[in-house]
Amino acid sequence: MTTPYLLEVNNVGMQFGGLKALSDINIRVRAGEFMGIIGPNGAGKTTFFHAISGVLPPTSGEVLIGGQSMKNRQAQAFCRAGVARTFQTPRVFGEMTARENVRFALSFGRSATAPKGRSSLVIDEVMQAVGVDDVANEIAGALPPARQRQLEIAMALATSPRLLLLDEVAAGLTEGEVEDVARLIARLRTEYNLTVVWIEHAVKTLMAAVERVAVLNFGQLLADGTPAEIAANPKVIDAYLGAEVQS
Ligand SMILES: Nc1ncnc2c1ncn2[C@@H]1O[C@H](COP(=O)(O)OP(=O)(O)OP(=O)(O)O)[C@@H](O)[C@H]1O
Ligand SMILES: [Mg+2]
Repeated sequence: MTTPYLLEVNNVGMQFGGLKALSDINIRVRAGEFMGIIGPNGAGKTTFFHAISGVLPPTSGEVLIGGQSMKNRQAQAFCRAGVARTFQTPRVFGEMTARENVRFALSFGRSATAPKGRSSLVIDEVMQAVGVDDVANEIAGALPPARQRQLEIAMALATSPRLLLLDEVAAGLTEGEVEDVARLIARLRTEYNLTVVWIEHAVKTLMAAVERVAVLNFGQLLADGTPAEIAANPKVIDAYLGAEVQS
């Protein structure tokens, strides 16, 4: 039987020495869903992405992609299974041009075996879709951080993902720019038929964009529900939201 869940996270824990960065996390994400993750600094959000993208294997529990257990699999296997992510601190290849970065990303993805001419089309297309085609020939390391994050989205798309994980891609932007990013993500989700999980501190914009929100706090899943349920959840208001989104 096929599972309706693209991502299943079962009892995942991540221990860093004496620190439990994630405790017993259970989250399921349906194919096509748009999910947000919020929570205070140090709550374990980025660590959660590490665990579900193969960057760091969880110290307990199991991650399934498309019903397949990813136990003992490397990051590249996650990529081939259709998982792509951006990093909170952009990890572009600083010496290469933006376009070379996207070409490199493509070589790791699900369409890596595409003929060369087809690859070029994919590269141009994703750069245009994200809006980094204007800096295609610029050295990536010289781009401002916000543009490097955009470039990372293009790199992620070049791997032909099913599940796109975005870690604070709108950090440091103005309110209007954050709204633009939300619109971009929504458009990419439709155009590329993606399942999206988006971590962001810009709670209002995120809550308006996503269908479901998970809240992490001290490495634990504090709540998981619709934006309306999360905004009204007393535990979430106490731990993170304060009075900000109640009105
Ligand atoms: N590689 C590591 N080794 C040891 N401790 C780590 C490591 N990575 C993260 N931590 C710790 O794990 C906890 C969770 O960190 P994480 O980066 O996942 O939080 P976050 O929710 O993404 O926070 P932020 O909103 O600031 O990005 C923090 O206490 C952090 O210091
Ligand atoms: Mg983080």
